[in-house]
Amino acid sequence: MQFIEVNQNTCTKCGICTEECRIGLIEFRANEFPSPVPFIETACVRCGHCVAACPTGSLTHRAVPVEKCVPVQNGLQISPEQCEQLLKSRRSIRLFKKKPVSKEIINKLIDVARYAPTAGNNQCVEWLVIENPDRLDKIRSAITEFLRFMIANQPELAAEAHMQLILEGQENGKDVLLHHAPVLIITHAKSDDIVAPPACAAALTFLELTARSIGVGTCWSGYTMLSAEFPPVKEALTLPEGHSNFGSMLVGYPKHKYHRIPTRKDPVITWR
Ligand SMILES: Cc1cc2nc3c(=O)[nH]c(=O)nc-3n(C[C@H](O)[C@H](O)[C@H](O)COP(=O)(O)O)c2cc1C
Repeated sequence: MQFIEVNQNTCTKCGICTEECRIGLIEFRANEFPSPVPFIETACVRCGHCVAACPTGSLTHRAVPVEKCVPVQNGLQISPEQCEQLLKSRRSIRLFKKKPVSKEIINKLIDVARYAPTAGNNQCVEWLVIENPDRLDKIRSAITEFLRFMIANQPELAAEAHMQLILEGQENGKDVLLHHAPVLIITHAKSDDIVAPPACAAALTFLELTARSIGVGTCWSGYTMLSAEFPPVKEALTLPEGHSNFGSMLVGYPKHKYHRIPTRKDPVITWR
């Protein structure tokens, strides 16, 4: 098939596909059907906006075939109040039930999270899901070792981050590091991809909000990220060669419910 094909029986020549293309790779002249520029294959980021925005489903793309693009269901649109409550009532969960989260649910969360924005639609985010208790123990021990290393070698930084307190928590079985969560999810990407950190953060944010909508709790695991380059942690995570950990999140069923939304600082806004 051609890179872009337009069904001339249904296309209304509205020009929306041309307007939607971020760098003008679909030409449109009045009274003609839209057509791709000759260099489209090399310049197109395959975001699929041309397919998604066509009101009549007349445009298809080799990488984004129209028949694979699920119709948006307007009836599922949430209200502004529902959206606000979903966002504001999300909490970082630090107490989890002793209950596993099924592979089906984790797959569903990642399926949604892959729709988070990525620069140039590079879709660089990859996923590591750790649910095996022995592997989680190994990571927990490796991060605990990192804490001991920091306390001994960088005492000022360790004091600032209350590492001694966290270490004592670990030694007393409280698991301040992984909160006894049944699942740890790592987003990783090529270490030299400068747009990977925001992409991974966006993906995990999508994941945690999706989790919230189905009663699953999450918490960012800052220490897994902070210690990611410490050799024992690196070994315990074993990411693909040349990849870095750009985000870690604990997942499980929350032990408690939250009945109110805590206050936050007023936003600091500069208007220009
Ligand atoms: C990058 C990042 C790292 C974090 N690391 C941890 C962590 O290691 N342990 C933890 O309990 N919470 C962690 N959090 C959660 C914050 O502590 C939490 O967002 C904050 O206290 C506000 O609570 P809330 O998320 O329930 O609104 C982290 C959050 C972010 C964004």
